[in-house]
Amino acid sequence: MPSLPAILAERLLAAAGIDPELRPATKPQFGHYQTNLALRLAKAEGRPPREIAQRLVAEVDLADICEPPEIAGPGFINLRIKNSVLADAVSALLADPAAGIAQTETPGRVIIDYSSPNVAKQMHVGHLRSTIIGDCLNRVLTALGNKVIPQNHIGDWGRQFGMLVEQILDEGLDASQLTLAEAEELYLRANAHLKDSDEFAERARERVVQLQNDDPETKRIWRQLIDISLAGFNATYQRMDILLTDDDLAGESTYNDDLPVVAADLEERGIAQLDNGALVVFTDAQAPAIIRNSQGGFGYTCTDLASIRHWIGHFHATRLIYVVGAPQIFHFEQVFKVARMAGYLPPEVPAEHVAFGQVLGPDGKKFSTREGTAVTLNSLLDEAEEHAERSVALAAIKYADLSSGLQKDYSFDVERMVATTGDTGPYLQYAHARTAGILRNAAAQGAAVGTPVVVEDAEQSLALALSRFGEIVALVADTLQPHRLCNYLYELAVAFSVFYEHCPVLKSEGEVRASRLALTAATGKVLAKGLDLLGIRAPERM
Ligand code: ARG
Repeated sequence: MPSLPAILAERLLAAAGIDPELRPATKPQFGHYQTNLALRLAKAEGRPPREIAQRLVAEVDLADICEPPEIAGPGFINLRIKNSVLADAVSALLADPAAGIAQTETPGRVIIDYSSPNVAKQMHVGHLRSTIIGDCLNRVLTALGNKVIPQNHIGDWGRQFGMLVEQILDEGLDASQLTLAEAEELYLRANAHLKDSDEFAERARERVVQLQNDDPETKRIWRQLIDISLAGFNATYQRMDILLTDDDLAGESTYNDDLPVVAADLEERGIAQLDNGALVVFTDAQAPAIIRNSQGGFGYTCTDLASIRHWIGHFHATRLIYVVGAPQIFHFEQVFKVARMAGYLPPEVPAEHVAFGQVLGPDGKKFSTREGTAVTLNSLLDEAEEHAERSVALAAIKYADLSSGLQKDYSFDVERMVATTGDTGPYLQYAHARTAGILRNAAAQGAAVGTPVVVEDAEQSLALALSRFGEIVALVADTLQPHRLCNYLYELAVAFSVFYEHCPVLKSEGEVRASRLALTAATGKVLAKGLDLLGIRAPERM
């Protein structure tokens, strides 16, 4: 079922011919939803806005959903949903909270490129955000009926493997026995070695060529490095309730065979051209996109173009979403431009870079360990778990990440994140557990959940908040901004708290109690479903 404002908006649009841009009312005295439709029409028609508002209100039949509309101020139309309609919405949510989420009319095939850590390196705090945000978008878009194709574009190719393999051979290591943390130490040793010794640097270069030429020994060690890295990544995904599996892997090396094909195609069609030995595409940006460097190497940009070609050609993707940090904004702008120029990315397929800000240390400065190295994701999880049990610790971390606007940097302050008061994940879990507790007590008293009836102001506010669930989920899918769902759930929890304070539940009787239990149960279900979409568990007790 479409959301209530969606139904209202459609009817107003049909009558007025322009989008009413219905907004939740800013104050309770303005009703539940507001539109400035008449003011906008007035300009075009040269008539007083109030007159137009009156005409629209007389013409559009909203009586099955709304109280008689009010015209306010210069000509705003204020709509108030009938209590009976709100009660029906609560009933529907009670039966199935997913029913509040209207299935998209045109289910898409959505690629979400997220997490994407690098082989032989532990996931760092930057990958935390990509993993958490990407997983939330995966859940939300799936809930709306889309087919989501997650792509974990791990960094499993590149020059670094030359030095890694050489270092392994020098030290006589069995790469298959390394942990990911050990592989990262190896990485550091190889890097130091590279700086120290020209001879080693030369061998590392030759090793890259052997890797590209499919030398079996080199390939075997490269594969071992990938396998141990995947074991480490998967352990972290499991620890964090992340949906990604090995089926979603599409590392950079996946596209190796396509790179020369893409380069040749772009060159033949005159989209790319030679410039000082490199093959580049000039876009309207200051710097050209490099398809092949002057040494004949294909890089990150060419790989991303090859993957787009694949996603459109093989997966018939209808929307591309990349969840990658803000430092890569320019990279993706260039990739999208070239992909459009080349026709790899058809005009009707949107490509969106969900760029996010940094995670800073608790002091608001760059986040690093005492030794000055980047902080690993596992150490953050460990720290949070010192303060709370796992599902609460995860709620704390995920919610803190998702609720701060995407582009904003935020401080990783565990004490604040795990607090059970204020706008935090644990507070929402606590609100959910509270609803469960009330229902347990009711059951113990033999009181059952009944039909919701909306009478009191606090009941109305709560029911209105509940009725908005589907609208918000759709909004997150459109805007790719998970913080909107966080804000909504927080407001819902607050509305519940106000309701619980003003409307006795267990102390009331008969149908009133049955109705209030229904509101309580529906709140619990929507909180649980909403938290689930954020990737957060909702325990029954806390
Ligand atoms: N591995 C890259 C990094 O750690 C992120 C890859 C993002 N995805 C992509 N298709 N470029 O920075």
